[in-house]
Amino acid sequence: MNILVLGGCGYVGTALVEKLLIKNFKVKVIDTQWFGNYLEKNINLTVIQKDIRDLNNEDFVDVNIVIHLANIANDPAVELKQELSWEVNVLSSLRICNLAQSNNIKKFIYASSGSVYGYKKELKVTEDLSLVPISTYNKTKMVAEELFRRFENKFPIYIVRPATVCGYSKRMRLDLTVNMLTMQALKNNIITVFGGKQIRPNIHVNDLVSVYLHMILNDVKPGTYNAGFENLSILEIANMISTKIKSKIEISESNDPRSYRLDSSKLTQTGFEPNFNVNYAIDELIEIYQRGNLKDDDSFYTVKWMKKNKI
Ligand SMILES: NC(=O)c1ccc[n+]([C@@H]2O[C@H](COP(=O)([O-])OP(=O)(O)OC[C@H]3O[C@@H](n4cnc5c(N)ncnc54)[C@H](O)[C@@H]3O)[C@@H](O)[C@H]2O)c1
Repeated sequence: MNILVLGGCGYVGTALVEKLLIKNFKVKVIDTQWFGNYLEKNINLTVIQKDIRDLNNEDFVDVNIVIHLANIANDPAVELKQELSWEVNVLSSLRICNLAQSNNIKKFIYASSGSVYGYKKELKVTEDLSLVPISTYNKTKMVAEELFRRFENKFPIYIVRPATVCGYSKRMRLDLTVNMLTMQALKNNIITVFGGKQIRPNIHVNDLVSVYLHMILNDVKPGTYNAGFENLSILEIANMISTKIKSKIEISESNDPRSYRLDSSKLTQTGFEPNFNVNYAIDELIEIYQRGNLKDDDSFYTVKWMKKNKI
């Protein structure tokens, strides 16, 4: 089975590709490598440095499954690069779908985001609730979902709405809540929380990798699936970290009103169970940092790196 991973050099992509190779899949990665390439050489792996806006038929030859992760992947980065973001996150989707259709793709998995729900008071935010995307990033995800859905009678499409991801990947991201607050505590023993009461769902990167594998390996019905398992306030996360790394929590005002929980029963009813959690992510980051294998590198902060490198 040949799998094409668009954005396979990213935070989630790197962990996913490593796992696919362990499972003996043949993997092709297409990625601009804006944040580097941490994938080790492997006989079953081909890595192509290329923009998804330039994809062509040749890229899809002998491909059975596509996993699409290549996006401008957070709110401030999309605000910084609005035109690029609409092009990459939305407009390129049409080309990708046409190529997937003409190459007879067996499964297509698209990484949307749980943030498409925006602000929701409901305790169970299920896939059938209305979307109220707040930021431009959230809007690009919602519009791209709509575009992918237009092709759902052409090939099987899985739209996954992941919660905020946490935990360690070789291509690290330290601009994600749990990872960022843990690094603040490790470096300065101070955790800065904006607002604090907003509820956000979380998923460990290993579990998200398992969600994608679950969809590849099992007979899961195509459709839209939430993927998030711990709905916690930012302050709760900060408190969890400060019990492990003695640190002061400073609260400042927030201009980000997003607050929602995710209910992932639809996913668990297909037989998926998470094995990791936020607590595990904090512990592993502490351990890896203390061993000297996790640095507070600029490239681990999406928007800082995009500005620095004029992407
Ligand atoms: N990390 C999270 O918390 C989270 C949560 C929900 C959804 N998602 C979605 O999951 C996907 C992966 O996220 P991530 O955290 O790994 O982000 P990431 O930024 O680490 O990875 C994205 C990868 O895509 C590549 N890329 C971006 N634009 C490209 C283009 N035009 N052509 C080719 N490659 C391109 C980048 O170089 C990068 O390697 C994204 O679509 C993101 O929106 C992530």
